[in-house]
Amino acid sequence: MILSPSLLSADLGRLEQELAALEEAGVAWAHWDVMDGRFVPNITFGPPVIRRLRQASGLFFDVHLMIEEPERYLADFARAGADMLVVHVEAGAHLDRALREIRRLGIKAGVALNPSTPVAALENVVDLLDLVLVMSVNPGFGGQSFIPRSLAKIRRIAGMLAQEKSPALIQVDGGVAPENAQDIIRAGADVLVSGSAFFSHPPYAERLRLFEEAAASATV
Ligand code: DX5
Ligand code: ZN
Repeated sequence: MILSPSLLSADLGRLEQELAALEEAGVAWAHWDVMDGRFVPNITFGPPVIRRLRQASGLFFDVHLMIEEPERYLADFARAGADMLVVHVEAGAHLDRALREIRRLGIKAGVALNPSTPVAALENVVDLLDLVLVMSVNPGFGGQSFIPRSLAKIRRIAGMLAQEKSPALIQVDGGVAPENAQDIIRAGADVLVSGSAFFSHPPYAERLRLFEEAAASATV
C-alpha cells in the first residue's frame, strides 16, 4: 500500500514545511489536487506552486488534474516537476492523445473516473495506463464521505486490469481514512489518497502507521 496524502488538507501557508514533515514521517508520495473552477467548482494550485515546492521536496508528486482540456497544460505540469499526471475521463474528448502525451513527456500517466463514470471508459486506453484513480467522492472538495458503491467498482477495475495483464496501480481518492482503508485495500486498491483524515490528526508518522496497519490486516 502506498499512501498519498492530499495537500489540499495541509496547512497551505506552510506547504514547504508540510512536505518536509511528510518525508520525515516516512511518506513517499504527495497528492496535488489541481482544480480549475470549471471541471469542478473550486480553484487550487497551478504549475508555479508545484515548481516552487519541487525544489524543496523529494517526494513523488502525484498530480490529479481536475481541469477541463487537460491536454493544454500537460507540458507545463511536467516541466514544473510532476512525477505523474492523472487526467479525468470526463474532462476532454481526447483521452488517448492526452495519455500518449504524458508518456512522451517522460512521466507516469493515470486516468481518473468520477463516481458516475462506468468502468468501461477504461477499455480502450488500458495499455496506456500506469494508474487508475477511482474517485470515491464527487471531486471538488476535501472532507466528504466515502461513497460505498466505490468498493464494487474497485473490484471490477482490479478484475479488468488482471485480465488485461496490466501492471497499472489502482488509486482511491475521497473519504479514505484508517477506518475504511482495510475494505478499500481488500477490494484491490494499491494507493490511498487521504486528505482530511490524514492532516487533521498529527503526528503524521502515527497516521501513516494506522494506514499501514490497515493494509497489513487486509492481506492476512
Ligand atoms: C477531491 C480530491 C481529493 C480530496 C481528498 O476533489 O480529489 O483528493 O481532497 O480529501 P479527503 O480525504 O478529505 O476526502
Ligand atoms: Zn485528488
